[in-house]
Amino acid sequence: MAEERALAAGCRVDLTGQTAIVTGASRGIGQAIAVRLAACGATVAGVARTLEGLEGTLAAIKAIGGTAEGHAANVASSADVERVVEAVEAKTGKIHILVNNAGITRDGLMLRMDEDAWQEVIDTNLKGTFLFSKFVGACMMRGRYGRIINISSVAGLVGNPGQANYSASKAGVIGFSRTVARELASRGITVNVVAPGFITTDMTGALPEKIKTEVKERIPVRRFGTPDDIADLVCYLAGPGASYVTGQVIAVDGGMTA
Ligand code: NAI
Repeated sequence: MAEERALAAGCRVDLTGQTAIVTGASRGIGQAIAVRLAACGATVAGVARTLEGLEGTLAAIKAIGGTAEGHAANVASSADVERVVEAVEAKTGKIHILVNNAGITRDGLMLRMDEDAWQEVIDTNLKGTFLFSKFVGACMMRGRYGRIINISSVAGLVGNPGQANYSASKAGVIGFSRTVARELASRGITVNVVAPGFITTDMTGALPEKIKTEVKERIPVRRFGTPDDIADLVCYLAGPGASYVTGQVIAVDGGMTA
């Protein structure tokens, strides 16, 4: 059954018996990742700001015969993150996979950016990644196994006018991940970064058509990515076959940063 589900989702990685936490799992890229990991057999704990927001993801996982539960939390709150990790560990015994995907934008040119816009983005995108890695990392250390996958952005690799806060947070995720990869490698825990290019989700849907047309012209494969393009790579990195890949940053961007 698990094998049929996985093949139907185009996934050949077997995650049967594993537990995965996916943050920002209510929609977009996080939803695609959560459904894909569940299709490969993992028990998924999806995290988002509200439980209602997670209903669609949980229903999609149920529909393919997968197992999942939802947790409402603000990834930037240490108390929230600790509560979620404790609950997941208490229920499943071990946490094998963590995908730090929750992220926000609050765009504006740097000279006009207020401190709130700066701090909110850094707190969600960077501090949230740190907090979940810290609490889940302790649990993975006990199990001597783990796969941490952090979702950055091409904006963390190259600058993007209007996104000083976002680019800083995503570049921070890269530096953080490379360091933690070195700290945890001897315990069987890998830490990698996926840097998506322009992916069709709510986050990018709000951009004006003119900008979207300009962006498409800069993408060698001449199309925007889909959440499934990201889920494919995350699934590989989450699997046992990726044990010798750690501390890496892999762009999934149609060649934009080639
Ligand atoms: P989205 O806006 O569609 O979904 C974001 C998710 O994060 C939602 O589930 C939301 O509830 C959750 N979230 C936000 N703040 C949170 C908080 N404080 N606590 C808990 N959950 C929170 O975003 P999308 O497009 O799916 O992006 C997912 C990740 O991919 C983000 O980290 C984003 O920066 C990154 N990314 C997206 C790109 C794109 O083109 N869509 C490109 C590059 C990176």
